[in-house]
Amino acid sequence: MDSIRIQGGVELQGKVRIQGSKNACLPVLAATLLTGETSLIRNCPKIADVYAMVSLLRELGCSVTWQGNALAVDADSVRGEEIGSEAVTGMRSSLCLLGALIGRCGQVVMEHPGGCVIGSRPIDLHLAALQQMGVTFQEKEGKLLANADRLCGASIHLPFPSVGATENVLLAAVLAQGDTCLTGAALEPEITALCRYLKQCGAEIDGEGTSRLVVRGGRRLYGTEFVIPADRIVAGTYLFACIGTGGNVFLEQAPWEEMDAVLELARSMGAGLCTAEDGVYVQAPDRPSTPERIFTAPHPGFPTDLQSVVLAVAAVSQGETLIRETIFENRFRVAEELRKMGACVEERGADSVLVRGVEELRGGPVEAKELRGGAALVAAGLMARGETTVTGCRYINRGYENICRDLRELGARITGA
Ligand code: UD1
Repeated sequence: MDSIRIQGGVELQGKVRIQGSKNACLPVLAATLLTGETSLIRNCPKIADVYAMVSLLRELGCSVTWQGNALAVDADSVRGEEIGSEAVTGMRSSLCLLGALIGRCGQVVMEHPGGCVIGSRPIDLHLAALQQMGVTFQEKEGKLLANADRLCGASIHLPFPSVGATENVLLAAVLAQGDTCLTGAALEPEITALCRYLKQCGAEIDGEGTSRLVVRGGRRLYGTEFVIPADRIVAGTYLFACIGTGGNVFLEQAPWEEMDAVLELARSMGAGLCTAEDGVYVQAPDRPSTPERIFTAPHPGFPTDLQSVVLAVAAVSQGETLIRETIFENRFRVAEELRKMGACVEERGADSVLVRGVEELRGGPVEAKELRGGAALVAAGLMARGETTVTGCRYINRGYENICRDLRELGARITGA
């Protein structure tokens, strides 16, 4: 499926079950490499990024089998330390295999994610942290060679709470000799999920859920059974889609305890929300209104991964909103496509856009250029008058199990082709 057709203008109504979290699942799957035993990871989302991680684990010598939505990973015989090149450049999260493989094998050869040289911005925090644990890095023919004759615990401070760097330090630290104290750690719920998995395997970690994590290294790890939590970003996508279309929905399993900033913004847009043990009820306003300013921030701030879908809702809301993106550069690519649908979005400096709400968007052909922006275009199509075709849906498949099925359950007129 590479394109999605939507007949817009239908209010969302009904109930949808939220899939397992991509960003929790990937590092947990990487972590299965740390035990010589079998782990059963339940509630894995069937998405392209998880399939890619499964292929990488198999290439490394693990036996991986699907049992419904669970993955059984037996990492008894990890044979290689070389991580296949295509998957690495295509999926940044394969980077968490670096910490896990260093822990397990002491060395790794991988394509540089994104193809940049050592020390450049995208993975500098990962490298600097692992270097403090005794890992040396070399670059050879565009590949990154990591080596640790003796992986040691260390005191590490992250100058920015990078999610991936926090995961890599945790993964390397559990099998390192001695203790690791990581300060400035990311607070994203996916880090807590990884800590919970590692602790279930026998790791000793203190400070879970805080910016100071202490890992007592060198413990023997065992296989375990673990349930991946529901995806807060998928839940947020459908929540804002409903606010934009009108209607009322129940987001079954939505992990609302992890979604404070998201729920706060949704309420300020006029949504009525009611949290229950097994999810969130959403009552959309007649027409959403947006706050003057919205900015993304590391957790517990508003997540960058929901910025694009909020931009789409702001495009049909009452009033003007300045949206500032503080985490990633170049994350307003969706603005150009939304303009084709009649949205009024102006760039304001390198990291902000001003959105002036219009009465309605017009359906038309648009192109997804990345995962979250693609989902935002689908949401915009639901809100628009007439038919929208979103192409480039391979990006959406990286993170959404079946966005068409989910939205059809909510009454949307949407088909994949
Ligand atoms: C993870 C999530 C992604 C989410 C992001 C921020 C996964 C698989 N992906 O990505 O969905 O949008 O967190 O919540 O979990 N940076 C550096 N040097 C580094 C590392 C990061 O400069 O060594 C910069 C990045 O370029 C970016 C910012 O830090 O500007 C945030 O990156 P990070 O928190 O590491 O995000 P990811 O782990 O890549």
